[in-house]
Amino acid sequence: MPMERTKEMTSVGADWDKFYTAEISSKLPFFSREGRLYDCLFAQQLTRELLKQLFKTADTLRAVTQKKAGADFVSGLLSHKRGMLYFVQPSTRTFLSFLNACHILGVKTSEIRDTSTSSEVKGETPEDTVRTFSSYVDLIIMRHPAPGFVEKAAWLMNRTGRPVPIINGGSGKDQHPTQALLDMYTLYRSFNGEPDGKKIVMVGDLKRGRTVRSLSYLMKNYKNVNLAFVSPKEFKMEPDILEFLNKHSIPYTETEDFSSVMREADAIYMTRIQDEHDKAGESKKVDYSPYYFKKEHLKIIKKSCVIMHPLPRRHEIEPEVDTDPRAMYWRQERNGMWARAALISHIFGVDLKIKP
Ligand code: NCD
Repeated sequence: MPMERTKEMTSVGADWDKFYTAEISSKLPFFSREGRLYDCLFAQQLTRELLKQLFKTADTLRAVTQKKAGADFVSGLLSHKRGMLYFVQPSTRTFLSFLNACHILGVKTSEIRDTSTSSEVKGETPEDTVRTFSSYVDLIIMRHPAPGFVEKAAWLMNRTGRPVPIINGGSGKDQHPTQALLDMYTLYRSFNGEPDGKKIVMVGDLKRGRTVRSLSYLMKNYKNVNLAFVSPKEFKMEPDILEFLNKHSIPYTETEDFSSVMREADAIYMTRIQDEHDKAGESKKVDYSPYYFKKEHLKIIKKSCVIMHPLPRRHEIEPEVDTDPRAMYWRQERNGMWARAALISHIFGVDLKIKP
């Protein structure tokens, strides 16, 4: 069913450049229908209420699918749907967790993981390639190196006669909303509820890491959250995120000294250096060694502090930390599959059928 658009939305939506640079709040209605997300593109779409609902669905899904009867029931919910995974930037976790999330719900999947195997090598524009998918499938999950491309694909698709929902699986160094979703789900499970009043420390290449950007956006949903950004001065959090936090009165501090904030952290979120975005080998000039969580730090942090990482890891967390009960990154991965399955069930409106 084509979405109903108000006059205002149509005028905002008529010209891509105008649309792209418009205030995010004015765009959001374009990407939802009947009170649900249609496309999931930005972390700003994820409200406190929606997150709570998705986490409940994710919890229920993981419980009911433990038994064959439950797993069979759930895998029938979307067995009439087909999904396309268009991942033209490297991915292990996001790809596999989405693929398996689709399978949990019965969505049949196809994939493109490399533009050299698609007609883009024949000169087809990526926009035409994406439009082609909609001839065959009912859902597109996309990871793309160019910031804004996933949004453009959703914008284009919503203007065709056969729109299909698009989920952003990572767009450039810009956004990774479903990573933020699973990160928040991990915090939620670890804290036994919302992260109100918690101190969350994000560490590493904050300038080019899309996970920390998207997770920062989610903090607007919670009360008295305190953020600390720990990074080398070359890779500080970008001003647009700091402005967002200021606008929503979310307190944050910035430091290069990891040890100064470790003790008081309720969650420590480590990230790797994002050197794929280097223009002239700038990462090599930065000393990343202080942004390393070592075994000895386990003695310093709170007993309840959770240690997270979106992964892949390089040298940000000493492998000996893995066996500590506060190391949450492997569970975080798995949480991703359930949170993404919950999101897909929400988009197709079958979430309410998933009951304990
Ligand atoms: C992250 C990504 O792709 O942005 N990985 C992921 O999705 N789990 C983080 C990273 O690559 O550093």
